[in-house]
Amino acid sequence: MAYGFRTPLPDETRLHSGSFVLETCLGMGGFGITYRSLDTGLTRQVAVKEFFPSTCIRNGQNLAPGGEWSASNLEGHKLKFMEEGRVLARLHHPGIVQVYSVFEENDTVYLVMEFVNGQTIEDYRVARGGQLSVDEALRVIRQAGEALQVVHCTTPPLIHRDIKPANLMMKPDGQVVLIDFGAAREFRFDTDDEHTVILSRGFAPVEQHTRHGMRGPFTDVYGLAATFYSLITGEIPMDARLREIGEPMPTPRELRDDIPEALSNAILKGMSLLGKDRPQTVKQFLALFDASVTARRTPIRRRSMFLRGDLSQPGAPMVLPQPSARVISVSQPPPANVAGQSPASQINPIDGAEMIWIPPGEFLMGDDDISDNPRRTVTLSGYWIYKNLVTVGQYRKYCEATGTKMPRKPTGFSDRYLKEWRLPDHPVVNVNWHDTTAYCKWAGVVLPTEAQWEKAARGTDGRKYPWGETWEASKVWSSVKQVEGGTTAVGRYSISPYGCSDMSGNARQWCANWYDEGYGQHAPDVDPMGPETGNRRGLRGGGWNSYLPSQCRCAHRDFDGPRNRNSVYGFRCARTL
Ligand SMILES: Nc1ncnc2c1ncn2[C@@H]1O[C@H](COP(=O)(O)OP(=O)(O)O)[C@@H](O)[C@H]1O
Ligand SMILES: [Mg+2]
Repeated sequence: MAYGFRTPLPDETRLHSGSFVLETCLGMGGFGITYRSLDTGLTRQVAVKEFFPSTCIRNGQNLAPGGEWSASNLEGHKLKFMEEGRVLARLHHPGIVQVYSVFEENDTVYLVMEFVNGQTIEDYRVARGGQLSVDEALRVIRQAGEALQVVHCTTPPLIHRDIKPANLMMKPDGQVVLIDFGAAREFRFDTDDEHTVILSRGFAPVEQHTRHGMRGPFTDVYGLAATFYSLITGEIPMDARLREIGEPMPTPRELRDDIPEALSNAILKGMSLLGKDRPQTVKQFLALFDASVTARRTPIRRRSMFLRGDLSQPGAPMVLPQPSARVISVSQPPPANVAGQSPASQINPIDGAEMIWIPPGEFLMGDDDISDNPRRTVTLSGYWIYKNLVTVGQYRKYCEATGTKMPRKPTGFSDRYLKEWRLPDHPVVNVNWHDTTAYCKWAGVVLPTEAQWEKAARGTDGRKYPWGETWEASKVWSSVKQVEGGTTAVGRYSISPYGCSDMSGNARQWCANWYDEGYGQHAPDVDPMGPETGNRRGLRGGGWNSYLPSQCRCAHRDFDGPRNRNSVYGFRCARTL
């Protein structure tokens, strides 16, 4: 086998019949060479990544086997590289580098992507004197984590496998963007299929060091936690293999004593040596930080602060006192039935909302492949539920009646997604759980429990989506419009068997109950009301930015701290008898 040097293509090289002109080499990593390039058709800068493993050699302009690579081995990886490009091209998220196209040339494959005008987080850290403040690092980790969740939830799901400060970029406006998916691989839960060994020392968990390690979203949780470690301490974490043989790694707090103990512990939880000891999903990892944020009694700047909480054990969830008001209450007598018959719908005279009757009885809740919502048969008493999401118009009426302020303009998404968010027939968003329960009190209703929400969404037959068993993108606003849509007028999409609208793809919906991922394992079969206590409330239904089928499934659960608001959170109400 030939050994030689890998060289980048010279500047000014034209690719794809002159569609792209290489301007300069940005980096040469384990699997590829990245160039800043000009897209001559659209006259804009793009980044072009060439599949070119580090030990291979260039023969003229072509990729040729070198080192441990055989021709057939290369062929297989080229196909994978291309396939991954195709999967990534389908993802549209401000935190994921946008892939525009892939093409074959020079016996290899090229990925054309958005040129991120910014610097890597690693360069940023160094430029800031070696360490970031805890607040700033938390912001970076949250943004990267939110993007990672999208990567993990795509179909087929991907794991990035090389999360580290050098593979995150920051745009001038502060947006964090995941790059370098060269190592990304499809995964199936609980398999140990052979993977290519790739590692970034210090940021790679033990399972990355072997060909047969179980990998999953928890693999990226390690990289994300290790990134956090490095951003706030300025140190590269100890290689996982040294830790495995008993070498003690200093805790973040030992390296920097103004790091709160709870935060230090949460990072270490994410860096647990065994995958099974880590938070299993990025969402659960990020929730460790939410828990402490939620503990703050003073007004919170959403996702920007971390307080010294009282997490005594790494990863232990924080238990907050129960609220003084009962969550579920019947504040109005049941509606009169006409001639002993339950009417199918009626109007709430206070806000004018149409309510649909969901008859008592069993329904199939959860799904076998959803870990926090296992499949079971649940029996519910009859209840009324709003046909539509509470609209801006209804919420305005409530604000005028009670002297409450309308929600502020959401931040976090570009204005162009939110042009229409204040139209009266759009769902009200940027409301937190407390805002929605205050509305309910005024309107003589309550929030539905997650079980009530789910039955209203899927009927009794356990269907995957509100309309049936198979995905139909045209039925979901977020999927029709992809992320660009923002909210849309209520009542047109994602209609359930009972006629409830927007059960996915417009605004996420706050539910009455606390969220606990294990609740479904031991919940009562009749009228489950959720855990007695907690620190996060259930949210259901995909929002306008959730265009992935998995996020729009009736059994998909979400959660957040009750004080958090954003441009995706809205609600519908229910009335129990
Ligand atoms: N889309 C992009 N836009 C701008 N710069 C990029 C982009 N992708 C990569 N880079 C730059 O090129 C460097 C190497 O790219 P990366 O994809 O991380 O490959 P590798 O680590 O395998 O060399 C990055 O550190 C970054 O500075
Ligand atoms: Mg890289």
